[in-house]
Amino acid sequence: MNTLGIETSCDETAAAIYNDRDGLKSNIIASQKEHEIWGGVVPEIASRAHDEKIIGTVNLALDEAGLSISDIDRIAVTQGPGLVGALLVGLCFTKGLSLQRSIPFTGVNHIDAHVYANFIEHKPEYPFISLVVSGGHTQLSKVDAPFSHQLLGKTRDDAAGEAFDKTGKLLGLPYPAGPEMDRLAQKGNPKAFKFPKAMLKSGFDFSYSGLKTSVLYRLRDEHDDFIRDNLADLCASIVNAITEVLVKKIQLAVAETGIKTVLIAGGVSANSIFRRKLNELRETDGIDLYIPSPVYCTDNAAMIAITGHLMMENGTYGNLEMQPFTRYRMQHG
Ligand code: KG4
Ligand code: ZN
Repeated sequence: MNTLGIETSCDETAAAIYNDRDGLKSNIIASQKEHEIWGGVVPEIASRAHDEKIIGTVNLALDEAGLSISDIDRIAVTQGPGLVGALLVGLCFTKGLSLQRSIPFTGVNHIDAHVYANFIEHKPEYPFISLVVSGGHTQLSKVDAPFSHQLLGKTRDDAAGEAFDKTGKLLGLPYPAGPEMDRLAQKGNPKAFKFPKAMLKSGFDFSYSGLKTSVLYRLRDEHDDFIRDNLADLCASIVNAITEVLVKKIQLAVAETGIKTVLIAGGVSANSIFRRKLNELRETDGIDLYIPSPVYCTDNAAMIAITGHLMMENGTYGNLEMQPFTRYRMQHG
């Protein structure tokens, strides 16, 4: 059984094929460079670029898997959350292909798919705690059974990835700043600057807008060369402030629920310093911790294909009336 996964929720046009016996057979990501000059994703440009790239991307996924379109048994497509125009490209393409080939499809929740990316390489046991840290979401959930997610906490303002991107912009880094900040932070001192670590002790919610303001104020009165001379230390201190809160919340969730299996997901989990801290938790706290390989942390269609595969195994299919949704919806099994 071959499931074709399609992802077009933001600025990555992606296609992947997951086989229920052999696992992942291909994973193609066409990143849209068109947004770079604008310092962020422009929705209209994203929709048009998806439309231009989607057929070529699916063909590359078929080639890489050594399959033809007639070998595809079903389709999994991102239904939301995301940019509505961008989502429509993937969803309309999927409906058309489904009709033309007479094969079923399902609509996948992009945020939950980040979590199920962990099932590409591993077989985690239920129940587990999941932490999604992406560009738009930071949320901690308890998952008792497949697609039965209970929200424990989320960000009250900026997401963790947004904190990277917004503070990175203040440092003059290109969008999205997370990967570059990760690279620069390797050479810096995480204790060089003191930035706020909000809500370390209170509940499961997160808040990152204070960090952005604090970085802004710290830079405001400095001379022109200050950023250049302190870039690595600034990056290391920001990475430290963002990731320390994430680690503390994981420890809190494990302590309060008694669940020791933790799945990490989303673009920020590609961060190498965060990954190092998480690996230490395995030793210090005895946590059975799962993090996808970096390529499955950031947006990709492999996570959509495997999530759709699991949903369709559960009997959850889409239909031609299915519409995209722009904000997160909790799934229940
Ligand atoms: O999950 P994702 O690819 O897309 C969304 O669904 O949002 O996450 C993108 C976010 C961006 O904010 C980006 O800066 C961040 O993930 N990111 C990183 C790294 N790679 C991507 N943040 C820190 N370190 C990284 N290595
Ligand atoms: Zn994502």
